[in-house]
Amino acid sequence: MNNLKEKASLTIKEVIEQRRSIKKFKKDNVPTELVLDLLNTAVWAPNHGLREPWRFILLKDEGRKVLADAILKKNEELRPKWEYVMNVPLHLVVVMKEDPRQKQWEENFAAVCTMVQNLQLAGWEQGIGMIWKTNPLIHDPNFREKVGVQQGEKIIGFLHIGYPDAIPNGKDRTPAEELLMIIDTDTAI
Ligand SMILES: Cc1cc2nc3c(=O)[nH]c(=O)nc-3n(C[C@H](O)[C@H](O)[C@H](O)COP(=O)(O)O)c2cc1C
Repeated sequence: MNNLKEKASLTIKEVIEQRRSIKKFKKDNVPTELVLDLLNTAVWAPNHGLREPWRFILLKDEGRKVLADAILKKNEELRPKWEYVMNVPLHLVVVMKEDPRQKQWEENFAAVCTMVQNLQLAGWEQGIGMIWKTNPLIHDPNFREKVGVQQGEKIIGFLHIGYPDAIPNGKDRTPAEELLMIIDTDTAI
């Protein structure tokens, strides 16, 4: 476990490299105003045609039961998960506007993913931890109905949000040198 560096001294490079997915959160409240502030930064993500293909549902306080109960409904053995969900300060459901055209659908998906990463990075800079979860409930009709997700909308994932109680060490990434192919003047066919 390592500690968060002072936020004022973090560069973008440091925020990107030091951000970790957080699974253990303090119980401290995260104000909705702060989440809105982070979202207002995140939505500067690139998005083709400025379609802004996203919206958000915030589960806080007793609202967290919507997610916790839905998990329990799937499997009574998941009671510890119910407790876990009720102890994480906030859950953000990220919703994408689907587009019937394949190219635009893919662009929308890509745009929402960049926005989510912006959100995670903006949060990290402020000392807020998150984890992006793709729980199977994202496809569950009952859950979708409970949170008011319409036909033509896709739940991209859940972000569990709070102040980190523990920050895991990062796992090594494959060096880009091993992944990069260069086609230049000599190798172009
Ligand atoms: C689209 C997406 C879905 C994810 N879903 C889950 C998930 O369901 N459960 C989970 O524990 N982590 C999930 N994660 C987090 C990854 O496991 C995590 O990013 C990865 O282990 C690398 O750790 P780091 O984010 O701390 O670098 C997801 C990440 C992404 C981008």
